[in-house]
Amino acid sequence: MNLPHDQFLAELAAILGPRGLSRDNDVVDPWLTDWRGRYHGAALALAAPADTAEVSAVMALCARYGVPVVPQGGNSGMSGGATPDPDGTALLLSLRRMNAIRTIDPAAQQAVCEAGVVLQALHEAAEAQGLRFPLTLGGKGSATIGGLISTNAGGTQVLRHGVMKAQVLGLEVVLPDGQIFDALTPLRKDNRGFDLKQLFIGSEGTLGIVTAATLRLVPAISDRIVVWAGLESIHAARALLLHCEAALGNAIEGFEVLPQPCLDAVLAYLPDARTPLNGRHAWHALIEVVATGDAVAPLRDAVEAALAAAFDRGMVQDAVLSASEAQAEAFWTLRDSISAAERARGPAMQHDISVPVAGMPAFIESASRTIEAAWPGTRAIGYGHLGDGNIHFHVGAPAGTERDTWESGAGKAISRRVHDLVTAAGGSISAEHGIGQLKRTELERLADPVRLDLMRRIKAALDPRELLNPGKLVALAPESGNA
Ligand code: MLT
Ligand code: ZN
Repeated sequence: MNLPHDQFLAELAAILGPRGLSRDNDVVDPWLTDWRGRYHGAALALAAPADTAEVSAVMALCARYGVPVVPQGGNSGMSGGATPDPDGTALLLSLRRMNAIRTIDPAAQQAVCEAGVVLQALHEAAEAQGLRFPLTLGGKGSATIGGLISTNAGGTQVLRHGVMKAQVLGLEVVLPDGQIFDALTPLRKDNRGFDLKQLFIGSEGTLGIVTAATLRLVPAISDRIVVWAGLESIHAARALLLHCEAALGNAIEGFEVLPQPCLDAVLAYLPDARTPLNGRHAWHALIEVVATGDAVAPLRDAVEAALAAAFDRGMVQDAVLSASEAQAEAFWTLRDSISAAERARGPAMQHDISVPVAGMPAFIESASRTIEAAWPGTRAIGYGHLGDGNIHFHVGAPAGTERDTWESGAGKAISRRVHDLVTAAGGSISAEHGIGQLKRTELERLADPVRLDLMRRIKAALDPRELLNPGKLVALAPESGNA
C-alpha cells in the first residue's frame, strides 16, 4: 500500500464528493483517448469539480502532493492537448460539470460562462436573448468554452469576428498553487500593466485552469444566405473572395473552400447528403453572407448582383444560393463533416497551417505537388478557412498502409516537410488547433529561439514543477522525440 497516494485520494474525495471523483474504468476510459484516436493515456482518477472553489482546492492539493494535472473540456481537440501520458500518474481534471451560464447581459452584450459550457449551449442561450456568440466550428456540440479559450480556437467566422481571443473580455483562472485569479470584470480601458488574462488564452492549460470567462456577444442576424460555388481553381477562389469583400464588405462572415475529392469523401460519409451543384468542379467555395439589425437592404439582391458580376468576370463556374434556412444548414453540414469524413478515409497526416492569405493558393498547389512527388501514392488536400489564411492540409497514406508504422515513419517525415514549407512561406505550423503533444517537437525545431525562451520563462514562473498539463505545448528544458 502506498500511503501518500491513498491519502491524496482520500483528501481528493473529501473535496469533491462522490459525484466529483471517479476511478471506475467505464467512466474514465472514454476520456483517455483524443478525438482523432491518436493518443491513449491513463489517469490516477477523473476529477470533476462542481465550482471554482473546488478547482482551487484540488489544485492546492495536487501542488502539495506533487500530482500532475491534465485539464479537459469536451475532449474534441485536434492536437492531443487534453490526453494524459500513459504512465497514469496524472489526475484528469474535467471541467464539464461546471456548465452554468452565470449571466447574460443583453444591454452590455456579454455573457459570463463557466468553462464547461458547451459552445452550442451558449449559441442557444444567446439566441434566446436576440444575440449570438460569434464563434462557431464543427465540434460545437461537444467543444467547451474552457477548451476553446485554452486553445484560442478559430472556426468558420474568424474572417469577420476574429479568433477566441477576440471574444474574451474577462477571465477567471485557477493557478497551479490553487490561487484564483479573478479578472472577469471587463474593462474597456485598463492600464495596470500586463494584460495577464492573455497569458492563459492559448496556453493549453499549461499555466492555469480556466474556470470561467466573460464573453462578447453580438446582435443576432436577421437574414443569411449561404452560397455554394463551383470554381476552376484555388486561385479563382481567392479572386472570388476579394470580389465578395469589395461587393459585400462586412456582410461576409465565412469563406470556406474544399476541393472536389473532399466533397466526394463527405458525400460518401453522409449517405443522405446531396451535392449542392450538379457538375464537378476542381474547387468549391461556401460563402456565408449575413445581415444584422432591421434596416437591411434585400440581402438576396446584393448577393445575386455580386455573383452575377463574378460570373461575368469568369471567377465562378456555377453557384447556388440557399433558398431556406434548412438548405443553408445542409450546406454547412457538408462543410462541417469534412474532418470526420477524412478521418474515415484512413490514415492521414493533418496539418493545421496558416500563411498570408494572398499566398495561400500558390502554397496549396506547390506543397501538394512537392509532397505527392516525394512520397508516391500519397494524396494531399487542402481545405478550410481560405478567408483567414488557415487551411487544413491533409496528406493521406497510400492505400493499404498500416497506420502506426506510417505515422511514425513516412508520415512523420511528410509532416516535417510540410512544416518546413510553411515556415519558409512565413506561416504558422498551428493556426487554430494548438500544439498539444502532436506538434511539440516541431515547435521546438522551428520556432524562433527567443519565442521559445520567453515561453519557457513564463512557464517556469507560473509552474516551475511542471505539474500542469505536462508533455504539452512547451517543456521547461528542450526535449526531443515526442512527436
Ligand atoms: C475544421 O475546420 O474542419 C476543423 O478545424 C477540423 C480539421 O482540421 O479537420
Ligand atoms: Zn478548421
